[in-house]
Amino acid sequence: MTSFTIGDTDFLRDGRKHQVIAGALHYFRIHPDQWQDRIRKARLMGLNTIETYVAWNAHEPRRGEWDATGWNDLGRFLDLVHAEGMDAIVRPGPYICAEWHNGGLPTWLTAGERALRSSDPAFLADISAYLRRVYEIVAPRQIDRGGPVVLVQIENEYGAYGSDKAYLEALVALTREAGITVPLTTVDQPTDQMLADGSLPELHKTGSFGSRSTERLATLRAHQPTGPLMCSEFWDGWFDWWGGVHHTTDVDAAASDLDALLAAGASVNIYMFHGGTNFGLTNGANHKGRYLPIVTSYDYDAPLDEAGDPTAKFFAFRDVIAKYAPVPDELPAPRASAPVASVELTPAGAWTDAAASASPAPLPATFDELGHLSALVRYDVALPPMSGPGLLTVEEVRDLAWVSVDGQPVGTLSRTRHDQALRIPAGRTLSILVEEQGRVNYDHRLGEEKGLIGAPMLDGAPLGDWTSTPLDVQAIADEVATRTAPRSGDGPHAWTGDLVLDAPADLFLDTGAWTKGYAFVNGFFLGRYWRNGPQRTLFVPAPATRAGVNRVVVLELEELLSPRAEFVRGLCLGDTEE
Ligand code: GLA
Repeated sequence: MTSFTIGDTDFLRDGRKHQVIAGALHYFRIHPDQWQDRIRKARLMGLNTIETYVAWNAHEPRRGEWDATGWNDLGRFLDLVHAEGMDAIVRPGPYICAEWHNGGLPTWLTAGERALRSSDPAFLADISAYLRRVYEIVAPRQIDRGGPVVLVQIENEYGAYGSDKAYLEALVALTREAGITVPLTTVDQPTDQMLADGSLPELHKTGSFGSRSTERLATLRAHQPTGPLMCSEFWDGWFDWWGGVHHTTDVDAAASDLDALLAAGASVNIYMFHGGTNFGLTNGANHKGRYLPIVTSYDYDAPLDEAGDPTAKFFAFRDVIAKYAPVPDELPAPRASAPVASVELTPAGAWTDAAASASPAPLPATFDELGHLSALVRYDVALPPMSGPGLLTVEEVRDLAWVSVDGQPVGTLSRTRHDQALRIPAGRTLSILVEEQGRVNYDHRLGEEKGLIGAPMLDGAPLGDWTSTPLDVQAIADEVATRTAPRSGDGPHAWTGDLVLDAPADLFLDTGAWTKGYAFVNGFFLGRYWRNGPQRTLFVPAPATRAGVNRVVVLELEELLSPRAEFVRGLCLGDTEE
């Protein structure tokens, strides 16, 4: 039995002063067969603690269908941390931000009439059920019950969103009632307002920042006069948006900021130690006047890269940590070089032409109204008689739409470009294929509806009746994988190919000659690709591959410039600012 408490100046582990040197690993961004490898490498860098968020929408995408197995086996993840001799910090949200879809909140929750992240009884009722389930996993794994968990965080940077103290009090009550006995923390960006609004007197305040450590610790100290100082998110890199650059940070600067934190005696959680991947459709988005979806890779320029390999930052951080704590002599084994291959792709034909499944309605239905969790909805409407081209206007498209008339492509409407209008030719049927590119994970657009918003107009007159057809890209890819001949039909085309491997291996799929779409290997959904960059390669984790034939499926929304799948030697995440 061990104890973990907050002393006058430090954390106390079994009564002895203890500096937490933690790193973030999100189990939901790493293939479960690779969890242990990443955790071990964290220990080899000198970390004594692993921190993870809990992504509610990964565990319960549909209301009541709770899953804690496989990718969602949080208990197993914590047990692996424990087996490695490390402590754990759990941040269950329910809101987690994290550049994750909807900040971790399930869409069934945000589609309802609830005031999010507040003491609204309807919101509290739903999050109570969620937190009880999470704490059933976490409570028996606390340090005083022989497990690894030493800290639990309440909410996440709440001071950047609200100031409803009754909400924070309700979260604390729920947490304690569920048997959580370890110290509870909050994290906020180190401004007076955020630190004041985001916490309660009985919670231990910590900060999130990636530079100017001394100044930020001083601000934190003013709000947390006693106990250990902790940077709960030491940002050692950053995330990328489609159409932007690949963010990297200077290794020496990051190492010296880490050094300043540790020298001040502060505890730290390096965000991220290893970022992993937004596999499937799990990426979030930002919106500060302009909608910017986050890319598939969550490499984060972290000490371990997206594929789990140590970078220069790993070794620089290890040297810094060695000044303050014991660091194992062992170094991570170098990665085996990834197989390189060029696979011919065969056309598999149409894939967005599913028959309309809903009866017409006056307005297009949102993804939320349809309860649709996948990436696409196709909207079809009969056009009135037109003497020539007309002007199509939309209130808003969330987030990118391919417009066609009688099966012929007309153009696109992009939310990022603030598009609201398109000239269309006369015809019989207008089809608008709308992609949800990732739900906003930060600030007040959390939970906003997706799809075609409002009443689309033609030359100023409303169009109706609409049929709204949800397309499940995973189910479509599974069906495409088994096709023996291409299917005829309108719209974009799918492709398949076979990669033969001697043994399972991590792979890097270069999507540079494709345009925009979704890629799969053996049914495993690698994620979105887009020539808009910066990211070019999709990471294929070895456990998703096998010795022998591996089936590649590409659902392309526009065109393949070259009908080949190129597997290359390593990551290509795009141009950096320098
Ligand atoms: C904040 C959030 C994190 C993450 C980082 C940026 O600190 O708490 O979840 O979004 O920003 O990567």
